[in-house]
Amino acid sequence: MLILRTVQDIQSWLTFHSAKGSSIGFVPTMGALHAGHISLIDRAKRENHLTVCSIFVNPTQFNDAKDLEKYPRTLEADSLLLSNAGCDVLFYPSIAEIYPPGLAQVKVDLKGLDLVMEGAHRPGHFEGVVQVVHRLLDIVRPDRLYMGQKDFQQFTIIDHMIKELNLPVQLVVCPISREPHGLAMSSRNERLSTEGRKQAAFIYSTLSKAIDLKNTMKPEQICLQLFDELNQDPFKPEYVDIVGADDLLPIKTWTDSPVVICTAVWLEGIRLIDNIILSLAAKE
Ligand code: PAF
Repeated sequence: MLILRTVQDIQSWLTFHSAKGSSIGFVPTMGALHAGHISLIDRAKRENHLTVCSIFVNPTQFNDAKDLEKYPRTLEADSLLLSNAGCDVLFYPSIAEIYPPGLAQVKVDLKGLDLVMEGAHRPGHFEGVVQVVHRLLDIVRPDRLYMGQKDFQQFTIIDHMIKELNLPVQLVVCPISREPHGLAMSSRNERLSTEGRKQAAFIYSTLSKAIDLKNTMKPEQICLQLFDELNQDPFKPEYVDIVGADDLLPIKTWTDSPVVICTAVWLEGIRLIDNIILSLAAKE
């Protein structure tokens, strides 16, 4: 696997391979890779001639300086995982490569998708995500972009950006990878204690109750009940929302359109997010 650090180097590599007609699958990450990321690499490899993964801890999407500082940086282990998975290129740029002086900020009307759930609790977060994903797409120009369903709001916003700007890339959303007891895989799980990691399975088991409750209760009642259940030591939920999968707005009654239950919960000072698509019509 090649490790390329500059825009110039990756673009020369891409120009050479695109000229030969190779399709490019792209997996953007912030590193601290786990089996969930590798499932995206596997899918990209199946569907494209070549796979590029980026590792860039994007400072503009952290609204909490301590969170940015504590974000795990594990380049050596990450490169090993990627190369074992058969990734062709790891793009590992510096901040100056991604944000050179004078770079124009992309303007996209997110139509309020960025103001609910994660956006309401992490102001400015999605502006940073949109900037960096747009910049990375501009550099890599992939045929397909692979993102995980765990960050439901993130991929919905990126999907919106791609459509608004008419970008020539297909977004492929991959299912959440879970630990055996149900905890959604996340780089943040590494910061939990062994005990905390076991306890965190409670988030998914609680959220899963919505699948049955859906038959007898209104969406709002389920949110209140599950919020209460999660609101017990050592957990501290921020929100439990059942929203339309397209507009991310809370729903009042059940409909045939896809809906998703989303939550963010603090445990041991770590903010964990999870979601479950509740309707049969999965969003992809
Ligand atoms: O999901 C992530 O890891 C990040 O938000 C992303 C998409 C790589 C942008 O920095």
